[in-house]
Amino acid sequence: MKVGFIGAGRVGSTAAYTLINNLEIDELVLVDILEELAKGEALDLLHASYALDKPIEIRGGADYSLIEGCDLIVVTAGVPRKPGMSRLDLLQKNAGIMRAVAKELGQRCRGSVVLVVTNPVDLMTYILWRETGFPRERVIGMGGVLDTSRLKSIVRRPTHGLVLGEHGDGMFIFGEDKGFEEAVRRAAMEVIERKGATIFGPAASIYRMAKAIVTDSREILPASIVLDGEYGLRGVAIGVPAKLGRSGVIEIIEFEEIREDLSRSALKLSEKLREIGY
Ligand code: APR
Repeated sequence: MKVGFIGAGRVGSTAAYTLINNLEIDELVLVDILEELAKGEALDLLHASYALDKPIEIRGGADYSLIEGCDLIVVTAGVPRKPGMSRLDLLQKNAGIMRAVAKELGQRCRGSVVLVVTNPVDLMTYILWRETGFPRERVIGMGGVLDTSRLKSIVRRPTHGLVLGEHGDGMFIFGEDKGFEEAVRRAAMEVIERKGATIFGPAASIYRMAKAIVTDSREILPASIVLDGEYGLRGVAIGVPAKLGRSGVIEIIEFEEIREDLSRSALKLSEKLREIGY
């Protein structure tokens, strides 16, 4: 099992550490435009893998040839939010980065599953899918797992509630604990205002999704996926419940009850995609 990270910043490096701690991985690579950062993080993680008594091959750099042969690639490259910014404020800048990343992945990684984390994640997932030409089952966005964890932390008990739709203001709760939407929406900004960035939450959520993919668990998790007729929607990536496994999306689960909320949330994302030429 070879796992690659594009983006060796705070979320990428923390997720990489979580993965080497908890999953059976043979090889891990980190690619970042900041070559020294990627090399330094790789070396630090290599030392950690020996301390954990789980030595694996870990390399880093700016050269995309490192990611050839990856089974799973996690994309965290991009600019994160600052206090007062919405995820959509990152759109122009991160769309350009996503196109550059897609160009590299499209040529080199035709067999990999790609987990997109860069925000605004639903739009970035769509761009990465379009620009790589990969099958939509192999391009998955991370948002709903994190939002659902935030919901659980707010109600402080296990819940069957799932946070679906846009990873942003257009999110909604399905199942249990409806009514906490506003608290979930505000959760990330409180962290950003206090410590400057969200890091552990996204990293642990990457791990949850990577675990389902790497171990082929077929667990149902909220995931941003390009829809092609499911829920009557097309040409947009949005958070829906999906069964995840080694080949990526195994099945999108359709619940009649969320059709309306999902359509409303998707409309806004489609408009944003149109604004940037998709
Ligand atoms: N190719 C590779 N790496 C890139 C590129 C690129 N074209 N552009 C930027 N990067 C790298 C930066 O050099 C930086 O190291 O992406 C990394 C981003 O790391 P941080 O700035 O620490 O940001 P982080 O907090 O990790 O957030 C990254 O994840 O959760 C989301 O909203 C968050 O979109 C943001 C992303």
